Amino acid sequence: MAIKPHGGTLVNRIIKGDEREKLLEEVENLPQKDLTDREVCDVEMIATGGFSPLRGFMKKNDYESVVDFMRLENGVVWPLPITLSATEEEIKKLRGKDRLVLKDEKSGLLAIMNIEEIYSADKEVESEKCLRTTSEEHPGVRYLKSIGDYYIGGEIFLINRPKRKEFERYLLDPEETRVLFKYKGWKKIVAFQTRNPIHRAHEYLIKCALEIVDAVLIHPLVGETKKDDIPADIRMKCYRVLLENYFPKTRTALSVFPAAMRYAGPREAVLHALVRKNYGCTHFIVGRDHAGVGNFYGTYDAHYIFDEFDRDEIDIEPLFFEHSFYCRKCGSMASIKTCPHPSSDHFFLSGTKVREMLKNGELPPPEMTRPEVAEVLAKEYKR
Ligand code: ADX
Repeated sequence: MAIKPHGGTLVNRIIKGDEREKLLEEVENLPQKDLTDREVCDVEMIATGGFSPLRGFMKKNDYESVVDFMRLENGVVWPLPITLSATEEEIKKLRGKDRLVLKDEKSGLLAIMNIEEIYSADKEVESEKCLRTTSEEHPGVRYLKSIGDYYIGGEIFLINRPKRKEFERYLLDPEETRVLFKYKGWKKIVAFQTRNPIHRAHEYLIKCALEIVDAVLIHPLVGETKKDDIPADIRMKCYRVLLENYFPKTRTALSVFPAAMRYAGPREAVLHALVRKNYGCTHFIVGRDHAGVGNFYGTYDAHYIFDEFDRDEIDIEPLFFEHSFYCRKCGSMASIKTCPHPSSDHFFLSGTKVREMLKNGELPPPEMTRPEVAEVLAKEYKR
């Protein structure tokens, strides 16, 4: 039997047919709101069931409970707020209204939302608890500072999906990945979250996991990321060449994950795991500094946080990996769990260093990046 979605039921807020037509008739008379890039991603994640059991943006009780206890008001584990922001100005326009139109600059009309509650956000507390910092060096803190001081809570009705033309072929909703896994006969599926061009350490983690499960879903995040992360379309080319050249086709699937990055480290690792359960995955890879940024989190904080929950509350099985590297003596990828040699034999380059090399027209070495992937990156950098 397939793994149950988080909270028990796979949500679907994509409205079709007559109900959609009726909603469209309402649009003209409703107040409208432009969303941030993150909120656009959240609308899609909620509507497609990726964020099950959420049916809309969080109301105050859920928000506070999530910030304080990493649980929804009803006790279900949920580590990060999913909220719709508004400024005082915008709130004024909503007086006496019970519905709101959600719009995206690029895609236009996205959804209608019930205005069930408007409340003020405690962004300082939210930053401190969810991101473990209030420093503006952290992109998540900067985001919170950039948005309005209020949140609007309520259920959403998706009318049009955000436009993601470049990834259409790779966009599978939770219902669809579940069908795919069933069709393939895969029972144990490990999900791999990534926001970076795929390198040898990533490949090593995935292959170690593949030894104990039936298949892997490579699930790169293609929603909003910070400016200096490599754009998703370039990363997709890297994933494709790696899969083509180094993975068995019968045991891999590549599909995009249209969520926004929050850089919330440990809490985001839990979110990433729960959400992949909704896509039908049974296992989830958590490596070093998962979803981290700068030096805000300890290397293994994203492992330790899972100890705060019962195994059956999370349900999807996290597979924890140590920092891995290429060992010249072993002649292979390894970690301190498998390699006895001193760090002078170990070879690893940071993402920043790799970007620097590419900028200077140098190819990252094969110990770090497969030549086919390095070539894609070099070509894109030249362009
Ligand atoms: S993340 O923000 O999506 O976590 P990234 O794409 O770099 O960033 O990482 C994808 C996954 O690989 C994460 O689980 C991360 O912890 C893991 N990872 C990345 N590099 C290494 C490494 N050298 N050793 C072990 N795990 C790693």
